[in-house]
Amino acid sequence: MFATRFQRWMYLYVAKPFFFQQDPEKVHDNMTRFGKMLGHYSFTRKATSFLYQYKHPALEQNILGIHFSNPIGLTAGFDKDAHLTRILPYVGFGFEEIGSVTGEPCLGNPKPRLWRLPKSKGLVVYYGLKNDGAEAIVARLKKETFGFPIGISVAKTNNPSTVETDAGIADYIKAMKTFVEADIGDYFTVNVSCPNAYGGEPFSTPERLDLLLEALDKVETKKPIFVKLSADTDFEKIDKMVEVTDRHRVHGFVLTNLTKNRQNPLIRPNEIAGIEKGGMSGKPIFDLSNHLISHLYQSKGDRYVIMGSGGVFSAEDAYEKICLGASLIQLVTGMIFEGPQLIGEINQGLVGLLERDGFTSIHEAIGSRYQKKQENI
Ligand SMILES: Cc1cc2nc3c(=O)[nH]c(=O)nc-3n(C[C@H](O)[C@H](O)[C@H](O)COP(=O)(O)O)c2cc1C
Repeated sequence: MFATRFQRWMYLYVAKPFFFQQDPEKVHDNMTRFGKMLGHYSFTRKATSFLYQYKHPALEQNILGIHFSNPIGLTAGFDKDAHLTRILPYVGFGFEEIGSVTGEPCLGNPKPRLWRLPKSKGLVVYYGLKNDGAEAIVARLKKETFGFPIGISVAKTNNPSTVETDAGIADYIKAMKTFVEADIGDYFTVNVSCPNAYGGEPFSTPERLDLLLEALDKVETKKPIFVKLSADTDFEKIDKMVEVTDRHRVHGFVLTNLTKNRQNPLIRPNEIAGIEKGGMSGKPIFDLSNHLISHLYQSKGDRYVIMGSGGVFSAEDAYEKICLGASLIQLVTGMIFEGPQLIGEINQGLVGLLERDGFTSIHEAIGSRYQKKQENI
């Protein structure tokens, strides 16, 4: 990794002011095109790796049969249509989650559908599951070999025809089966918490989640399955959801998706005024995600692998989630606010934090907050 401080300075004082003056979705699309181009050539991949990638044995883990070279993944929603699988390992990510991918292609909600909250350090997202659909994305990925693990986030197509429970389930099944049959991806995440889809989040009730998981259990695959919950899930609700997932083929949780709560004290009211729709990411959900990670880890221990997502802007933020019980971290808003060098900075910072606390690997730090508490009693 070359001259991170310089890269940080360049991003914060040159690139970011330029990007933040432009329409957020346009910047996102241009960055995707640029990343795709960088991934296309061996010399641009190598140059990217020289500038950004940080490797250390203490960061490696084998989880559910998958090797992760580091715990930092790109969360669902940035690489919706899987254009960046070639370049992201060289940026330093340990894995990525593509999608969310739905059974049918979907244009998403009308624009504008992405806003920045610079002071609150978050984004408002109203994409509405825009994606090319499972078949087109599988056709694209069939030509690829992957330099790191790929998670497939599946959801139901955002249109009126999938609102009814059986049709919604059939759409999830179609998306998942298309990837299973092509043997693409290392794990699946069942996204039941998109705040922006037609008909709301019907599978975020325990009863409907039960029906969905019962159907997904019948799709033949050995790949691990995660469930992604909303940042607005309370402890009572997550306990009920977990009673359901206990009975099904679920290996872990992604905690969490966006929040819909506009009264969140970390969201500055003047920034959100006038933005009527959408879910919020970034710093306003950091603690919400942490509380759920902590609650799930303390109640279920190692039964579920937890991926922590929400408001990770630094190595300390990632370490906090790991010490509370997350085995892996996903992020996107932090990268948009801090720059792509953040991934290497977090990985390098994590190695320092592990050494400080006397751990030789990430694995030893997972859930360490509670062991420490017990030792102190
Ligand atoms: C632009 C954008 C699009 C997103 N789209 C999806 C999506 O399609 N599926 C999903 O499960 N989560 C989606 N999310 C939520 C993120 O995956 C993540 O859970 C959330 O943003 C919290 O992480 P962060 O604070 O690092 O952004 C999206 C987030 C953003 C910012």
